[in-house]
Amino acid sequence: MHGHNHKQDHSHSHEHNHGHDYDWGALGDHLEREAELSVPAITRAAHWLRELLSTDGGPAGVGRVLDVGSGPGVVTGLLADTFPDAEVVAVDQAPALLARAQARSAGRITTHRADLPGDFGTLGTADLIWSANAVHHLGDQQAALTALAASLRPGGLLAIAERGLPPRFLPRDIGLGRPGLQARLDAAWEGGFADMRADLPDATEEVEDWPAMLTRAGLTLSGTRTFLTDWPAPLAPLAREHLQAHVTRLRDRFGEYLDAGDRAALEALVDTDAPTGLLHRPDVFFLTATTVFTARASS
Ligand SMILES: C[S@@+](CC[C@H](N)C(=O)[O-])C[C@H]1O[C@@H](n2cnc3c(N)ncnc32)[C@H](O)[C@@H]1O
Repeated sequence: MHGHNHKQDHSHSHEHNHGHDYDWGALGDHLEREAELSVPAITRAAHWLRELLSTDGGPAGVGRVLDVGSGPGVVTGLLADTFPDAEVVAVDQAPALLARAQARSAGRITTHRADLPGDFGTLGTADLIWSANAVHHLGDQQAALTALAASLRPGGLLAIAERGLPPRFLPRDIGLGRPGLQARLDAAWEGGFADMRADLPDATEEVEDWPAMLTRAGLTLSGTRTFLTDWPAPLAPLAREHLQAHVTRLRDRFGEYLDAGDRAALEALVDTDAPTGLLHRPDVFFLTATTVFTARASS
């Protein structure tokens, strides 16, 4: 178990904190762009979930869908398109993000503010619960999955999107500093991720074997699939803006894990005027993958 305050004197420690102190609302633009880039992949994922739900053992119909940790609701809207007859609910602790989700949905979704894990009991029941990149923000991930499983209706499906592949966006040699920056950025990000988790309330170390954790939550596994997001160079402005924000955050939050040469390379990448910057250089691309673990409640 990690102490909660072991990094309090660190200059970035205020960002390595749990949902209450982390300013999710301010990340709305960033989360929205990121999700929009994954729309083709998540659309394929949603179609797969619809197939799973329509097979034997599934619910008679999909009446209610939850998107837990919805952020700005890009995926919530996509779930509403995929399940047109369902009540689709964006669940998040950040009112500003729920307001965005509501605004972009043209009335097709509802929102529910929940501060997890305390508010798990307020979610109600659902035939499909989707949760992407949110469970890892809760200290006890197994307890979170168990609580989500308890909200499933008979035959209902829990779909957890965590990890997959980290984004790839740079060639091996970018003409700035030492080749291989991308891999070192991954390592820096892992360092920051571990700090973030260590600072969560009730931080619990866990072997992150998601199928095993879903089984321990009392569910029956119904498959794991990975969906590719592949935007080749030359990138459109939306993807460039996303990378600009992504690398700026890496620099600000995880720079301590990089050496001076790599930090200098990051400065050149986020320089909005330089031709070597992410907004201008011709060689950047965006390649990532979303892994979705599914399991169902007994019918
Ligand atoms: C990384 S974002 C993921 C957003 C979206 N699901 C996606 O994949 O694009 C994590 C989301 O979880 C929410 N969140 C973080 N901690 C939370 C908590 N304790 N209770 C409820 N929501 C939380 C944040 O507000 C944020 O919208």
